[in-house]
Amino acid sequence: MAFTGFAITVLLLSLASDARPCSDHEKSSLLRFITGLSLDGGLAMSWRRNGTASCCSWEGIACNGDEVSLPGRGLQGSISPVLGDLTGLRRLNLSHNSLSGELPLERLLSSSRNLAVIDVSFNGLEGELPYSVASHGWTLQVLNISSNLFTGEFPSASFVMLDLSYNKFSGRIPAGLGNCSGLKVLKAGHNKLSGALPDELFNASSLEYLSFPNNGLYGTLDGASITNLRNLSHLDLGGNQLNGKIPDTIELPSALSNCTNLVTIDLRNNNFSGELAMVDFSTLINLKTLDLLYNNFTGTVPESIYSCSNLKALRLSDNKLHGQLSPRISNLKSLVFLNFKGEAMPQDETIDGFQNLQFLSLSKCSLTGKIPLWLSKLKILEILFLEKNQLTGPIPAWIKNISNNSLTGEIPTALTTMPMLTSKKSTARLQQRVYELPIYVAHALEYHIPTAFPVLLNLGRNNFTGLIPDKIGQLKTLVSLNLGSNKLTGEIPQSICNLTNLQVLDLSGNDLTGGIPMGLNNLHFLSKFNISNNDLEGPIPINGQISTFPSSSFDGNPKLCGPMLAHHCGPAETTVFTEETDERVKKVMFLIAFGAFFGVGVMYDQLVLSRFFG
Ligand SMILES: *[C@@H]1O[C@H](CO)[C@@H](O)[C@H](O)[C@H]1NC(C)=O
Ligand SMILES: *[C@@H]1O[C@H](CO)[C@@H](O)[C@H](O)[C@H]1NC(C)=O
Ligand SMILES: *[C@@H]1O[C@H](CO)[C@@H](O)[C@H](O)[C@H]1NC(C)=O
Ligand SMILES: *[C@@H]1O[C@H](CO)[C@@H](O)[C@H](O)[C@H]1NC(C)=O
Ligand SMILES: *[C@@H]1O[C@H](CO)[C@@H](O)[C@H](O)[C@H]1NC(C)=O
Ligand SMILES: *[C@@H]1O[C@H](CO)[C@@H](O)[C@H](O)[C@H]1NC(C)=O
Ligand SMILES: *[C@@H]1O[C@H](CO)[C@@H](O)[C@H](O)[C@H]1NC(C)=O
Ligand SMILES: *[C@@H]1O[C@H](CO)[C@@H](O)[C@H](O)[C@H]1NC(C)=O
Ligand SMILES: *[C@@H]1O[C@H](CO)[C@@H](O)[C@H](O)[C@H]1NC(C)=O
Ligand SMILES: *[C@@H]1O[C@H](CO)[C@@H](O)[C@H](O)[C@H]1NC(C)=O
Ligand SMILES: *[C@@H]1O[C@H](CO)[C@@H](O)[C@H](O)[C@H]1NC(C)=O
Ligand SMILES: *[C@@H]1O[C@H](CO)[C@@H](O)[C@H](O)[C@H]1NC(C)=O
Repeated sequence: MAFTGFAITVLLLSLASDARPCSDHEKSSLLRFITGLSLDGGLAMSWRRNGTASCCSWEGIACNGDEVSLPGRGLQGSISPVLGDLTGLRRLNLSHNSLSGELPLERLLSSSRNLAVIDVSFNGLEGELPYSVASHGWTLQVLNISSNLFTGEFPSASFVMLDLSYNKFSGRIPAGLGNCSGLKVLKAGHNKLSGALPDELFNASSLEYLSFPNNGLYGTLDGASITNLRNLSHLDLGGNQLNGKIPDTIELPSALSNCTNLVTIDLRNNNFSGELAMVDFSTLINLKTLDLLYNNFTGTVPESIYSCSNLKALRLSDNKLHGQLSPRISNLKSLVFLNFKGEAMPQDETIDGFQNLQFLSLSKCSLTGKIPLWLSKLKILEILFLEKNQLTGPIPAWIKNISNNSLTGEIPTALTTMPMLTSKKSTARLQQRVYELPIYVAHALEYHIPTAFPVLLNLGRNNFTGLIPDKIGQLKTLVSLNLGSNKLTGEIPQSICNLTNLQVLDLSGNDLTGGIPMGLNNLHFLSKFNISNNDLEGPIPINGQISTFPSSSFDGNPKLCGPMLAHHCGPAETTVFTEETDERVKKVMFLIAFGAFFGVGVMYDQLVLSRFFG
């Protein structure tokens, strides 16, 4: 009691004191806040147990910082405005709980005149925030309300850091933000914002982090203004409908060259156009991430990019770029993530570098001939896309050098055009991993975590020959198998029927013969099935999954018969068995021996496939 009395005296004598022990009034406000919740994570009990002491010793309360810090405490229910009675409060952190209802922002700010930091991110809060919360004696510097359900318009006031991402804000970005001369971080991605980026925004010259991905922003980005943001290090405008044009030197993104602090440029999924080579990347010595996926850039890949020696992630695919990448690309020693499309890769066998590459996509890159040897040096590669090239010949033997990593637990899990294999062990390891950039398979799908990535083997549209190996039945995690448009021969192996996770099976456009295995009816998740344009024969299995696919799945096999085809089955065609030929049995024996030699299942599968696709 004596201590409390002393505290009140101190309070009266020195209202502005930074380090105040808490008063009875504040204790009761805190208790009312906590008992106002529907679930308090045991805090009310713990606080009451310590009731005689100053609340400075209460869990989550720090008096020297005038802080209430209760992140991830399992709090549920609504935030009582009584928190506003903590007039000396400077920092409030209630992130990662299950709080709902409204955030009493005005009440908090009008009474807690020192409140500088509010973090209520990752809750279920909703409602609108006051549009202009600016008022006399504004002290709030950090407002993090990301990952909630807030609606209405975007608040405007003089913040230092404002994170509104992952909410349901709509309307335009308020021009008033441009008056925030101290604003350093502005994140508002994944909302429903629309309209243009206001020119005024570029008057907030302290901005270091500007991020508005996945909204409905449109219009032209004013490149001249963006150069005001000299300290900009992170620009993320991906997933909008913005446009802009180069080569006009003052327009975006050529103007970006003057923002020499840039670390991240993300303009993906917009409509930027112009000659990319007009941008001088050589000044962006700090650049680590450049993502220009899905835009309308033209010309060649700028030489200056090769001087960004800190670049870790580079994605230029789905633009209108052409030409050939320079061997200087191997200067980019830090690259972890590389994604091109449509450009030719250097075939130079002497290329060295890329030691750090974990993700490489070279789809539609006009690769011809053999898989380039320099790929063999990518020791820690985890995902490789080589689809839609003109690769021929066998899967090279050095593939085992990449898969050598499996011996130390570093297995490339999703080699898609090369034989790709997974094991439970490797997926567990990769669960923790997040790629430098989200990976897209279909336009709408986003994968940050490789295990969320459907396991797919895509060897389609190449010129592979030979049989489909029986051992393909061991790739049990496969969700999608595409061997379409090659020159594969022989029968559809029965073992494919063991791939019970398959959702997509495409064997079309080969020279496959024999009957359709009855067991395909076991593939209960199959939603896309295509065996058209082969030389298959006999009846299509009736009364099962396979018979539900349309005729287009089977067309172009004159000897096939079935109810969905013009060619109905006669009595003589009811049974065609696909029997194991002697030759096939011999191959299997050989493969078992081969596998035993290497002893690592994962690697084994790759080698098996390499033998058969030769
Ligand atoms: C209560 O106070 C004591 C000492 O003041 C402290 O050691 C303890 O951690 C506090 N919290 C709980 C839950 O008992
Ligand atoms: C709030 O607490 C979480 C969890 O400890 C932490 O990650 C976050 O940085 C804190 N917020 C602020 C603004 O310090
Ligand atoms: C909320 O944003 C602030 C400012 O950027 C940051 O310090 C804090 O860590 C964020 N909170 C969480 C839970 O990440
Ligand atoms: C910015 O501040 C100036 C001066 O205080 C004011 O006149 C102007 O209206 C403000 N701009 C916006 C967009 O709020
Ligand atoms: C930016 O600020 C300058 C001076 O502070 C002012 O003259 C200019 O009109 C402002 N621009 C915008 C677009 O608000
Ligand atoms: C940019 O950053 C530098 C160094 O941190 C700082 O001195 C300068 O004031 C900043 N510029 C603006 C406009 O905030
Ligand atoms: C970029 O900087 C150069 C040299 O500092 C300057 O001449 C040029 O005008 C600037 N460009 C823009 C668009 O600001
Ligand atoms: C992309 O921008 C061009 C002009 O640069 C425009 O003609 C076209 O309609 C835009 N496309 C989309 C999808 O906005
Ligand atoms: C590229 O521009 C063309 C016409 O200028 C437009 O039809 C197309 O939608 C644009 N592409 C993107 C990704 O915006
Ligand atoms: C496959 O090889 C043939 C020649 O044998 C060639 O005409 C064709 O273009 C090749 N197809 C692909 C996709 O490379
Ligand atoms: C595979 O690795 C071994 C040992 O690391 C090396 O000697 C060999 O040259 C490599 N082969 C290829 C094709 O890279
Ligand atoms: C399917 O898997 C089972 C169990 O793993 C195995 O016994 C069987 O031989 C496989 N069938 C084929 C056709 O590979």
